[in-house]
Amino acid sequence: MTSRQAEFVVVANRLPVDRVIGPDGEDIWRTSPGGLVAALEPVMHTVDGAWVGWPGQADLVLEPFEANGIRLIPIALSEQEVAEYYEGFSNDTIWPLYHDVIAPPQFHREWWEAYVTVNRRFAEAAASAVAENGTVWVHDYQLQLVPAMVRELRPDVTIGYFHHIPFPAHGLYAQLPWRDQVLQGLLGADVIGFQRAQDATNFHTAVRRRLHHEVRASSVDTPDGRWPLVKAFPISIDTTPYRELAQRPDIRARAVEIRQELGNPRRILLGVDRLDYTKGIRHRIKAYGELLDQGRLSVEDVTFVQVASPSRERVDAYVHLRDEIELSVARINGDHDTTGHTAIRYLHQGFPREEMVALYLAADVMLVTALRDGMNLVAKEYVATRDDNRGVLVLSEFTGAADELRSAVRVNPHDIEGLKEAILAAIEMPPAEQGRRMRALRKRVLEHDVRAWSTSFLDALAAARARRGAPHPQGETES
Ligand code: G6P
Repeated sequence: MTSRQAEFVVVANRLPVDRVIGPDGEDIWRTSPGGLVAALEPVMHTVDGAWVGWPGQADLVLEPFEANGIRLIPIALSEQEVAEYYEGFSNDTIWPLYHDVIAPPQFHREWWEAYVTVNRRFAEAAASAVAENGTVWVHDYQLQLVPAMVRELRPDVTIGYFHHIPFPAHGLYAQLPWRDQVLQGLLGADVIGFQRAQDATNFHTAVRRRLHHEVRASSVDTPDGRWPLVKAFPISIDTTPYRELAQRPDIRARAVEIRQELGNPRRILLGVDRLDYTKGIRHRIKAYGELLDQGRLSVEDVTFVQVASPSRERVDAYVHLRDEIELSVARINGDHDTTGHTAIRYLHQGFPREEMVALYLAADVMLVTALRDGMNLVAKEYVATRDDNRGVLVLSEFTGAADELRSAVRVNPHDIEGLKEAILAAIEMPPAEQGRRMRALRKRVLEHDVRAWSTSFLDALAAARARRGAPHPQGETES
């Protein structure tokens, strides 16, 4: 692996860099704009950190290297492992199961075996990269077995795990043929973090029902005498680049230009998602299409821009979703477009952050209608850019963000009539009410940014390290 050992090792399915080809055909690695990197960068730099992850391409075998001051330890995955561990078990078994079976999860024993093999590869890399008594922080559902595997290899290190997606109710979780092994994998950590209190509760219930461990208010007693902390740590965004971009004259000019390009509608509605069946894109398109059909909206007055960035394109459920969405967009546009105005401007592309901020500034109404979402950072990004305290956030109650963003217009996306009413109310919301709501939303997002999130998680990890081996102070046992 690598000769130098790091105090702090992050383990995530993906490395925090994107590969771009330079002018002479050489590889250039650019830090990806994700919030996780932004949150962890300062820590990585102060304590000598390393990041273990997959470079995002099959059969790419790379030696550890450095990019923008972060030491990267690439994990190679074969074509078959990408199909079975990443597209299969991670994204066609766990992802749909943990998102309340919006799509039916597929259970295949070979996928599970690949998941175990690949999790072990990540764990071994982390175990050899971390310094004595160091810290390993594992991220997300692709790597749920890694905490226990690292503990077995390196009992001296402190291990954190953060789960970025929902953890389902026991009735659903119990379907997983490998439900006990996954719980045991997670319980290898000293701190197990979830997005919402409900996720932590669901995890507790699964541990009690499946493993019969004693569960306290915020920890679990494991048979090896440990008591990992189980708690909600709602993630957020790095607000600074969003606020700065929103101030830039060229980005503000671009927002005005976008409105002009759309034919100067009175209102612009915006959706921004990975093209994923959990996001409720179909539901919002249906609601909007019905409002046009019923003549309650017109394309001269209102345009809906949907950015749907390509995602997991070789997984069947995603292929079908794309077909369905593109068919409905084409039908609605065919029925309602004029030569000068479009009903839905559908963009199946990813855009740089500058263009995203210009879109947020142009949008009068942001539609976040996920059927289930661990957090939903798009909602927070929109809020962070609106320093004029204008704009309306329509937010599904099934997102983690709904726990915090109480002043949004809340919707149940399954209720199409309710969604239609919420869209109309958002379009017509008086400026004073927009301001009142947006100020409250901004207060929350700006105060609880991603730095606050990583600090609180790392403080909990430091406390876990300090109390190692100590008996549990008489905590309350859950009934
Ligand atoms: C979600 C998951 C992440 C994942 C991301 C993109 O946000 O929580 O772990 O990296 O989606 O999905 P992808 O499959 O492209 O990594």
